[in-house]
Formats: sequence, structure tokens, C-alpha cells
Amino acid sequence: MKRVFSGVQPTGNIHLGNYLGALKQFVELQEDHECIYCIVDMHAITVPQDPKVLKEHILDVAALYLAVGVDPEKSIVFVQSDVPGHAELSWILTCNSYTGELSRMTQFKDKSKNKESAPAGLFTYPILMAADILLYDTDVVPVGNDQKQHIELCRDLAIRVNGKYPDTFVIPDGRFLKEGARIMALDDPSKKMSKSAENIHSRISLLDDPAKIKKSIMKATTDSEGVIRFDTENKPGISNLLNIYSVLSGISIADLEKKYEGKGYGDFKKDLVEVTVKALTPIRERFEEIRNSEELIRILREGAGKADAIAKKTIERVKGNFGLGL
Ligand code: AQP
Repeated sequence: MKRVFSGVQPTGNIHLGNYLGALKQFVELQEDHECIYCIVDMHAITVPQDPKVLKEHILDVAALYLAVGVDPEKSIVFVQSDVPGHAELSWILTCNSYTGELSRMTQFKDKSKNKESAPAGLFTYPILMAADILLYDTDVVPVGNDQKQHIELCRDLAIRVNGKYPDTFVIPDGRFLKEGARIMALDDPSKKMSKSAENIHSRISLLDDPAKIKKSIMKATTDSEGVIRFDTENKPGISNLLNIYSVLSGISIADLEKKYEGKGYGDFKKDLVEVTVKALTPIRERFEEIRNSEELIRILREGAGKADAIAKKTIERVKGNFGLGL
């Protein structure tokens, strides 16, 4: 069975983009892959975090994994910092990375824009991400489109290290969906939907109640043409909503265009509210059941033990190949 690894940062406001781009794939893949899903808390501290809030957010993401359908009987679920191999491998990879390639990462450029100085962790973040993936001899990495550049860097690093120290790493492939891979902000469809955007109506969080979902969708930016047609260049707002509608309902975009021929944006948005509420309500309800349970902590502890056992073997192999240690 091929091995899958992916993670989500516990930085709050897990949204429809995270769900449709990544989490939905997690659930599908666990049926016929060996899956390892991580809450990447060490990535979260590349920007300042309140320790108490971070702890809560770690448990929120873990509960959301289970609420969307990740099954701990089939998949390993754990918290990144509970497995020391991530930091260890990250250092080894750092010594095989170049500042030039890291400077080209668009996410670093975006996050450090207009800042006099950025934390070094923000700069080396893609190396930690490569370590996360390579630590588990991963074959497949299900992520949203925004991670394409980081996956390429991970592959480059693995190929480079294998060139010097043969058979050190498995070379992973990114898995990007055709629809859902890039959900755009509702208030500005030129930007991706994001956890950190100030405007809460730019995103639909997985835990939003029906009233908030309704407000955000009804306020979503469209255009003045009044025709429901998929055209990302000229109609990015309505195209984004069509994409969301299609992935949540399973109805193709072409069929949605036909269904709404001659109808206005108001009718379309009202139906999208219904579809979104229907999709997210069971997730919110399951989340409430799981979030404060002892079971959640047990699953994370057990997951960390299983992940650590795999990680230790990789670290042993890598150290051996590099001539590190006794
Ligand atoms: N808008 C999106 N559309 C599709 N997929 C997305 N992902 C993120 N945004 C979208 C995917 O979600 C997974 C988890 O993301 P993350 O938590 O590791 O980090 P992120 O990409 O930094 O998420 P945000 O929401 O954009 O956070 P901020 O605002 O803090 O930068 C990844 O697989 C990602 O591709």
C-alpha cells in the first residue's frame, strides 16, 4: 500500500479551502492507502502564538480531522512536536538546502512582505515541511494548490540528498485536486481563502453556524453581468462559488450552469447556503461530541507512538547514510 502524509497548521479558523483542498482528500485516501495525518504545531510557531490558544487550536484541528471522517482505526493521527524526528531531520535537510531556493518561495515572500525582518523559521519552514514528508517515506502528499512550490522543493531536496547518499529518501508526489484545490476568498476572489484574513466573511469556517454561513455567502463578491457562468478570468467570484457548490454537492459545474440558466445570483446564493449548511452541520455536530473527550487525547497519544516508531527507523537510516552519531 502506498503511504500518504499530510498536515494542517493549528492556527484557528479551519475553513472550506482547507477542507476541500486537503481534508476531503485525507478521508478518501484512507480507504486504500496507509495514511499519516499530523497537526503541524511546529509550523504554527513560525509566527507568534499565545501558548494557551495554541494548545486549544491543536485539539480543535485534531477533533476536526475526526469530525470530517478521518478514522483513527485506519489512519495515524498525531501532533508534530510529539515526534522529535521532525526537528532532527529538518536540521539535516537544512544543511542540504540553499538560501537562494528558499528565497524564491512565494509564501515566504508574501508573509515577510513589508516587514523589516522576518523570523528565520518563516524562511526555513519549507524545509521542516520537507522533513515532515520524508520522515515517513511518503509516496503521496494530498494538499491544496498553494503548496505546489513547497512540494517541488521537498522533491528537489530528496533527489539532491539521494544523489550524495543513495537510497536515503523515497521521492514523494503531491496530490492536487482538479476542483477544490484552490478556494478563493469570498470578499476578494483574487486571493485564496485563508485563516488569517481579517474579514471573517472572506471565509467559511468549518465550525460556522448557519447564520454566519448565510451572511458570508450572501455578501460574497460577484459581478454585474448577472449570468451564472464559470469563467475564472472574467467572473472569478461566481466561478469560485460554482466551484464550492460543485464540490460540496457532487453536481458538475456544467450541470450547475444549466440548472441556473436564466436565474439570478440571489437564487443561486440561497441554494449554495443550503448546500453548505447541509455539508457542514454534521461536521460541526461531530466536532462538538469529540472535542473535549478523553478519547481524542488517547487517539493522539497512540498516534504519536505509531508515528515515532516509523520516524525512528528513518532517522536511523539517514544518520547511518550521513555518518552521524556512533
Ligand atoms: N484556499 C485554499 N484552497 C484550497 N486548499 C487550501 N489550503 C489552504 N488554503 C486553501 C490547504 O489546506 C491545507 C492546510 O493548510 P495549512 O493550515 O497548512 O496552511 P495554509 O496554507 O497556510 O492555510 P491558510 O488557510 O492559508 O492559513 P494562513 O492564512 O495562516 O496562511 C494545505 O494542504 C493547504 O494547501
